[in-house]
Amino acid sequence: MKVMVVFGTRPEAIKMCPLILELKSRLSIETVVCLSGQHRDLIAPIIECFGIKEDYNLDIMKRNQTLSDITTGIIEKLKEILINEKPNLVLVHGDTTTSFAAALASFYERIPVGHVEAGLRTYDRYSPYPEEINRQMIARIATFHFAPTKNNRDNLIKENIKENVYVTGNTVIDAFKTTIKANYIFENDLLNNLDDSNKYILLTAHRRENIGQPLINICNAVKKIVNNNKGFNVIYPVHPNPKVRDIVYSILGNNEKILLTDPLDVLDMHNLMGKCFLIMTDSGGLQEEAPALKKPVVVLRKETERPEAIESGTAVLAGIEEDKIYNTVIDIINNSEIYGKMSNAENPYGDGNASKRIADILNETI
Ligand code: UD1
Ligand code: UDP
Repeated sequence: MKVMVVFGTRPEAIKMCPLILELKSRLSIETVVCLSGQHRDLIAPIIECFGIKEDYNLDIMKRNQTLSDITTGIIEKLKEILINEKPNLVLVHGDTTTSFAAALASFYERIPVGHVEAGLRTYDRYSPYPEEINRQMIARIATFHFAPTKNNRDNLIKENIKENVYVTGNTVIDAFKTTIKANYIFENDLLNNLDDSNKYILLTAHRRENIGQPLINICNAVKKIVNNNKGFNVIYPVHPNPKVRDIVYSILGNNEKILLTDPLDVLDMHNLMGKCFLIMTDSGGLQEEAPALKKPVVVLRKETERPEAIESGTAVLAGIEEDKIYNTVIDIINNSEIYGKMSNAENPYGDGNASKRIADILNETI
């Protein structure tokens, strides 16, 4: 059986690499790795960290690329590779435009698609944008659906997608086996020299629907948090998107309590998550990782497709207004009972064996 794994952005890489390692360990499966190149700088260190080398790279990334650029670039370039390689199955992940375009290109060549991280929904077509519609469209195309949680499976069943739906856990938890290390020394030396008398809030925010006023509100709230609360500092690895960087550096630059860095290597990031006091984020992946690392998360979005972390008690939805974000964080950092409950909630995203389950299912069914 030949399986082609197609991905192109940072979160897909972190979540697909453990699965690629698992597939490559199975003698019955030939695994071909194809990068779309939607992200260039962010992907290379991740696949290197997992010891993976791509077979193909469509190399489509442009500065300020549009969604149409990504979609058309992939559909045009993937076709020849699919025709030459003739995989029995193409695996895509989640909700990025790489994943949607790769699923569509595979369908056009009549190649079955397996969807890893299937069934997440907000049912709001513009939040997250365009991911909500990307993942709904992938669900229509895919033959196999690997849902991280029962809630994700139920979403698919409600949409009348009932065949070949499997609950597997999320492969992001599998990634920790490679990335989390005892007595870790950071690549980024600034992180080795943090002042232990401070509490560090780790912040990431980059989503398309937050670029503009919501990101300005987030930055203003963060500035107020560190200015009004002694002993609390912020570390913000800033996404390379120029539209994100312009806003973030103009509001949060030159503040001695806020460390703005380039994106962190995944090893640094996961080990820093383990060490920080609290996480503020609009990222999907961080909402899944934080419960396993026992860290409270303030979600900087209007809604989330990851209600499990909210229900388990690790995450709280703060929205995108300055005052609400500020007050939500203050409530957590000033109340040790709330903080303790959030840090000790159960991880709903699996036991770190999602990749094994997916590989077993493919072995048995294809
Ligand atoms: C994409 C995904 C989003 C995911 C995010 C993870 C879509 C529609 N969105 O959004 O779901 O949460 O990745 O990070 O698929 N850039 C670089 N170097 C890189 C990567 C990006 O310079 O390695 C810059 C480029 O100028 C690029 C811009 O960032 O044009 C935006 O990248 P893009 O992939 O279009 O959007 P993201 O916001 O990263
Ligand atoms: N991440 C990282 N370095 C960073 C920021 C994030 O390695 O500087 C990791 C993070 O731990 C998570 C993933 O990247 O595994 C999340 O990616 P991102 O926020 O880009 O996408 P999203 O989760 O929003 O789709």
